[in-house]
Amino acid sequence: MKKSSDNKVLIFDTTLRDGEQSAGIGLTVEEKIDIAKQLERLGVDIIEAGFAASSEGDHEAVQAITKQVKKPIIASLARCVPDDVDRAWEALREAAHPRIHVFISSSDVQILHQLRKNPEEVLDMAVAAVEKAKGYCEDVEFSPMDATRTDIDYLYKLVEASIYAGATTVNIPDTVGYALPSEFSRRIQDIRANVPNIDQAVVSVHCHNDLGNASANSLAAVQAGARQVEGCINGLGERAGNAALEEIIMAIETRKDTLGLSTNIDTTQIYRTSRLVSDITGFPVQPNKAIVGANAFRHASGIHQDGILKERTTFEIMDPQSVGWKNTSLVLGKLSGRAGLRSRLEDLGYEISQDQLDSAFEAFKDLADRKREVTDADLDALMGNQRRIEPGRERYKLEHIQVSCGDHEIPTATVKLKGPDGKSVTDAATGTGPVDAVYEAINRIVEVSNVLTEFRVNAVTEGIDAIGDVTIRIERKGETYVGRGTDTDIIVASAKAYMNSLNRLLTMEEVRSSHS
Ligand code: KIV
Ligand code: ZN
Repeated sequence: MKKSSDNKVLIFDTTLRDGEQSAGIGLTVEEKIDIAKQLERLGVDIIEAGFAASSEGDHEAVQAITKQVKKPIIASLARCVPDDVDRAWEALREAAHPRIHVFISSSDVQILHQLRKNPEEVLDMAVAAVEKAKGYCEDVEFSPMDATRTDIDYLYKLVEASIYAGATTVNIPDTVGYALPSEFSRRIQDIRANVPNIDQAVVSVHCHNDLGNASANSLAAVQAGARQVEGCINGLGERAGNAALEEIIMAIETRKDTLGLSTNIDTTQIYRTSRLVSDITGFPVQPNKAIVGANAFRHASGIHQDGILKERTTFEIMDPQSVGWKNTSLVLGKLSGRAGLRSRLEDLGYEISQDQLDSAFEAFKDLADRKREVTDADLDALMGNQRRIEPGRERYKLEHIQVSCGDHEIPTATVKLKGPDGKSVTDAATGTGPVDAVYEAINRIVEVSNVLTEFRVNAVTEGIDAIGDVTIRIERKGETYVGRGTDTDIIVASAKAYMNSLNRLLTMEEVRSSHS
């Protein structure tokens, strides 16, 4: 079990649990493993890999992550009910460092209206769940949900009882993002002063961003003595999201002078992690987002540029390279070779096998034929496509696409797909536009009804030959599936994005039906 020393703040990442609860995110097990591996490289102390009892998919993902990610603690969430704790343990039992995280509502409003119980019953359920979890593993976290709207004396009782029952971490969630920084700091100080056995547990915080205070509240709590912070990469999470971990980490790093604290994070992995999470979830990072937004280290005003050229620290409080920004003007082109590509990809943080390099090189050559200069952003886009088509991730593979359209033409598309049985099938359809025609032709082959709810095109870089980056969302049976695709031809990028979302849908439906 990881213990926080007096000035070490443990970083608990819940991108795969609370982050995945963001409306419109649905990740396959393979994608969760990709994110978990990157979180391990980032150096987070704890990965909350899912909520094992909530679905078969979550259970499978938690279990798969425990097998492949060995350095951090792997946690599964569980309600304070025996079956949930059992399911959490079943998923976690192969973890090198397992943690069961149990939670229950503690505010009057939630106890009364949601649980329809009384506070004494809740206390009993909390104690019983912690005890049961403790029977399975040493490392147990307890969260009184909606702690910031909970009667403070009741909160003391609940926290004390949970520690007495065996909780090694007590997490104080601002579940609905209601707290102000000064209040939250006070609450943490009060808990530390009034819960007699508090020194036997790590105090953690988990802040939501409904009023935009999640990072400020987390830092206020750390200043008040909390030594674990929970959050998500890029501030993903339920509703307005959780505290953005990159912000907390860099605040602790940059303001060491005042905070006197540190984390175990390799900050140079922050940018990569943010890009990977954005790419896989299809949630773009706003340009002015702190630390990881495209403008975070761009200086537009003449006065600022002048200052930066004279001395970087005039207008920069962090070195962009410390969070993994690569300030390079190096570009590859069609004469670049395999070794050059490998070395550039390694500089960008990709760890690739020979097979992956061979396949990436083929895609790179194809891109370099169509685009004069291949930049780092292009390589990121290319590697995103490569990941999506890795063996085992595709039920249907796009082999060929041809479209005819114009102002006096009926848009018509022909597509050729390789199916799960390895056979290629060709079909054609018309549509209201070229993308619609392509999607109709694909639908005729794949035959899985769904509704397209979002379609977005961005350019990866500037210029007429820029790569188009398409993000779509489709819905079926109340579930949403994201799809991404990039190509210099936006119709092809749109087809790739649709295939990506369909493959995700088919994979996840297969998992669900195999367990029903
Ligand atoms: O926001 C919250 O209260 C939670 C708990 C389950 C920790 O996510
Ligand atoms: Zn939460």
